[in-house]
Order: sequence, then C-alpha cells, then structure tokens
Amino acid sequence: MRMEQSTLGQRRKPALFITGAGGEVGHGLITSLSSNNSVDIVASDLRDLDEDLRSQCAETYLADVCDRDALDRLLSMYQVKEIYHLAAVLSTRAELAPEVAHQVNVNGTVNILQIAAEQGRMYGEPVKVVFPSSIAVYGFSSLAQKTEAGAVSEYEYCKPRTMYGCNKLYCEHLGRYYAHSYRQLAQDSVQGTDKNRGVVDFRCVRYPGLISAETIPTGGTSDFVPEMVHAAARGEAYTCFVREDSRIPFMTMPEAIDATLKLAAAPRNSLSQIVYNIASFSPSAGEVAELVKKYFPGADITFEPDERRQVIVDSWPEALDCSVAENDWGFKPSYTLEQAFEEYLVPKIIKQYESAT
Ligand code: SER
Repeated sequence: MRMEQSTLGQRRKPALFITGAGGEVGHGLITSLSSNNSVDIVASDLRDLDEDLRSQCAETYLADVCDRDALDRLLSMYQVKEIYHLAAVLSTRAELAPEVAHQVNVNGTVNILQIAAEQGRMYGEPVKVVFPSSIAVYGFSSLAQKTEAGAVSEYEYCKPRTMYGCNKLYCEHLGRYYAHSYRQLAQDSVQGTDKNRGVVDFRCVRYPGLISAETIPTGGTSDFVPEMVHAAARGEAYTCFVREDSRIPFMTMPEAIDATLKLAAAPRNSLSQIVYNIASFSPSAGEVAELVKKYFPGADITFEPDERRQVIVDSWPEALDCSVAENDWGFKPSYTLEQAFEEYLVPKIIKQYESAT
C-alpha cells in the first residue's frame, strides 16, 4: 500500500470516516463497526458525541459537513478508505427550512464526494462512499396511485414532494456521477490515462422508516411509529399525527445497520445498481398501535392526523420491492413486525427504561 505524507510530514493513518455520527444510525453503526473493524474510526457531528460513542472512535470532531475547509483540516492526517455519510436534515425539519436542508443535504454531500474523489486519486484506490437515501425519493400524486402501485422498485415513481426527498434523489445521481463519469472531459480523461474514473465507489441504501429501541428520531415524518412505541414504554399518552390506515415500510435499526454493512462489504462486481431498496415490513399505523397495546396494555394512543404531514406519508410507497438487494448482495430482513416487537423492541425498550429509572 502506498502511503502519503500529510501536511505535517507524518504518515497518514488509514481511517474510516463517519459524518452525522451522533444521529440514530451513527450510534448503531459505530457500535457495530468498532467491534468488527481494525481500521480507525474518525467521526464527526455538529454536536458533541456522547462519551460512549467517543470511546469507540479513534478521533471525534465537531464539524459541519458544509465547511469544506474544516473537513480538509480534520482529514489531513488520514488516508480515508471508507466514508459513511450520514449527516442530513430529515423530511419534516427540512420543510421548515428548505434552503438550509438543501445546503446540508446536497452541498454537504458534494463536499464528501469531492473529498472521496481527491483521496481516491491520491492513493490510486477507490474510496468507498456509503450513503443512506430514503423512501422520501418516491412521490405519488394520489392515495389511489400509491395503493395501486403496491411494492415499488428503485426507479419507479421517483417524483419526491419534499425537499429532503429531492435532496436524496439528487445525491443518488451525484453519487453515480462521481462513480462513473466524474470530470469526464478533463484533460487527464481524454488522454486515455483516466485518473478520475472509479476513484469513488458509491453505494446507496434507501432506508424505510427506522425503529430503534435505543434512540428516538427527530425531524422525520416516519417518526410516528418509533414515537408510539417509546411513549407506551414510558407510560405516556401518544397522539399519532397520521391516520390509522397510513402504511409505509419500516425496519428495525439493527437490520438497517446490518444491511448497510453488508452492502458496504459486497464485492464491487456483484453490484448491478448504485441504489438499493431495503425494508422488512409494511404495517399500517393502526396495526402498530394494536401491537403496542398488546405489549403495553395501558398504552393510550389516539389518532389526530396533521393534514400536512399526512400528505407526505401518503406520497411515500406502502411497500418496497427489495429483490435486487436480495439477489445482488443477499439482503434479507431478520424480522416480521411481530418478531421485531417480540424479539427486539419490547425486551430492549423495557430494559432501557428500567435502567434509566
Ligand atoms: N425517516 C425519514 C424521514 O421521516 C424517511 O426516510 O424523514
């Protein structure tokens, strides 16, 4: 392996870089990566990471993904092998400040892709960029169209109605561009010694709604399911902001982490696509409420749809066709909804709130 000198004259250390590390996915990912990986984890977030996460990383930094200079400074000591670019403003929060969301979700991603391309060129080996996209990239014009469509594949109905969905869809395309045709007319490309092609190995999973027993999401529109479960476990009443018949795909956080790492580890030549749907089950909000009441009999759940957030949920598919992920890299859900409650959510959540009291 070739080693470069950093600006300080030290050898650069191989590292794996995670942005948005303090978020829900970051928690699970860092725990999994730190126990199964020999490469140093360098993590960044806008806010201080908690002590538990910090202890699992070689270095942690307070940094904004929009601040290219700060990213360059903090990465100047590392040879970045893989980047998990998790920093994003989710769908509900993005509707409150769309331009800020665009700045973070798109410009932040361009910064990451550019850093990957520069490091890939510098070391002569591709830098893997693993990017979580979302069901928000889809967009139905009516509930009837959503119901009729059923389980959708990656390239159907990609007409997002949220800023977050637009940002994610565009960044999927940007990732494809950096992977396949970055600087295609630059001089070093036309002379046949193409130093740009293949410097970024971009891989993307489209997450459904995610449910973690350990953390509660903030700023998303699929948050009604995790909020409902956590409220019941804490003995609090919950008012659900969508109708009982609202149906979108979900999976548990450990399944999302496993799938993300499985895609990252897959041989490049087994991947026929840049973007892969993944999901485990597609319950309605009412079905989730019934299950919550089975495990927490005192649960007080009412439905008071917020019309504006409802429209967003109605524009997302009720199920995903994950067959390409299954065929290309062996994606397989671990749980049905019932198993997710029985084997993961309920035991872990109860333990968590017990130990917190
Ligand atoms: N969880 C995301 C959101 O609600 C969707 O992927 O914004």
